[in-house]
Amino acid sequence: MDKVIIFDTTLRDGEQAAGGSLNLNEKLEIARQLEKLGVDIIEAGFPITSPGDFESVKLIAQEVRGSIICGLARANPNDIDRAWEAIEGAAYPRIHVFVSSSDIHLMHVLKKNRDEILQLTRDMVAWAKGYTDDIEFSPMDASRTEPAYLYQILQIAIEAGANTLNIPDTMGYAIPEEFGRLIDGIFQNVPGIEKTVVSVHCHNDLGLAVANSLEAVRRGVRQVECTINGIGERAGNASLEEVVMALKTRRDLFDLDTGIDTRQIYKTSRMVSELTGFSVQSNKAIVGANAFRHESGIHQDGVIKMPITFEIMDPKTVGIPSSSLVLGKLSGRHALRERLAELGYSLEDEDFNRVFRAFKELADKKKEVTDRDIESLVAEEQRTVSEVYHLDRIQVSCGDRGIPTASVVITGLGGEALSDAALGSGPVDAAFKAIDKIVKVPNTLTEFSIKSITEGIDAIGEVLCRIESDGVTYTGRGADTDIIVASAKAYVNALNRLLTAKK
Ligand code: KIV
Ligand code: ZN
Repeated sequence: MDKVIIFDTTLRDGEQAAGGSLNLNEKLEIARQLEKLGVDIIEAGFPITSPGDFESVKLIAQEVRGSIICGLARANPNDIDRAWEAIEGAAYPRIHVFVSSSDIHLMHVLKKNRDEILQLTRDMVAWAKGYTDDIEFSPMDASRTEPAYLYQILQIAIEAGANTLNIPDTMGYAIPEEFGRLIDGIFQNVPGIEKTVVSVHCHNDLGLAVANSLEAVRRGVRQVECTINGIGERAGNASLEEVVMALKTRRDLFDLDTGIDTRQIYKTSRMVSELTGFSVQSNKAIVGANAFRHESGIHQDGVIKMPITFEIMDPKTVGIPSSSLVLGKLSGRHALRERLAELGYSLEDEDFNRVFRAFKELADKKKEVTDRDIESLVAEEQRTVSEVYHLDRIQVSCGDRGIPTASVVITGLGGEALSDAALGSGPVDAAFKAIDKIVKVPNTLTEFSIKSITEGIDAIGEVLCRIESDGVTYTGRGADTDIIVASAKAYVNALNRLLTAKK
């Protein structure tokens, strides 16, 4: 096969990451974008884990028709039944069954012996096969499993009907050369392996997830499991954009294609970061803010003369818009619409009008409105759609003498204006307390961070806050040139998400 199948697990392993919490609509929005990106398989979730996960997998299976939709299941009948129930409406359903195979896991987690695991594999892969022909099997912690035993379990999975065999480096423990040898061993020692697709699923604990995945591809693996921005358990998974762009940029070496429309990468990365609340580090390969930015004069000179001198990829191939045009307060509706289209947004008239009003307000405060500002405005406007409470006004007084005080006006669901005021240890504390007096939902603030999205003293500040209620985390975001306003917006956004989820 001259194609590498891209299996995206952003909505399962990625969402599993500490602090990640997406609601139903957000998962569907990401799934639709993944389909547009051209991923072959979307692992939409782990249906047995919660009713919310089940519902989102089911909805994605019904709505997203262009990719295979996969549901994860442990090797037991309840998990598999539930996974099938969630994905049976998909155009192309896949069940992914996993069981630990390393002695460490067998002894300390499953408390079963090797023979019991072999039997379980045979029975549960066959059970899943009773539902659909497309079955993937993963021996969890494969890279720390004795190879001879790994070959046995894979052979049994094939005999029972698995057609994709996934080799997870669950703990991100493997080193490329060693992982490559394991893959060679599998191809050489597992009868029937040639009839299957061999896949890898690498974690990034040692920062080697992409390197291990690519090494496996060099040895014949034809499916890579990955996530957008590399999000996932602990240090995350192999990053989709890095794997795909490595294959594309070094086609001379790999001679392999993927079905990915790379021009959708940047948009997908921004969307996942925005909705999960996991920001992308600025030096992150492919999608980081500095990935295509040249500071050194020698490099800048070279790029101007001939981009290939210091750029191995054209930023346009990953969908990073060329920012030759900077908008300002004289820019009109037409210019904004064009810029939005270049950034990949097509907004309904009503949404566009709101973004345009926000753009005009921003352009009054800020000389140059950049692409990042525009993305932030769109995100901010999208957050205000279907709000339970809307932050209407906020006023704070603070300093090193008086007691920080905040007064807020919030519009409730019925359109009524609700106002209150509070004192706090600082302006953000006072603002949150004033909001609490109106919204009255007990919660704990577990994370608060603020960052400027562009340079300059007039930049927009983006605030992320996470709150916890009944053991569930809700992420809120807010953006404004005034960081106290941005903080209050982020808090109201988190409360809205909490209230919507509880409803
Ligand atoms: O990391 C892992 O082993 C997994 C499996 C469920 C494939 O996520
Ligand atoms: Zn994993």
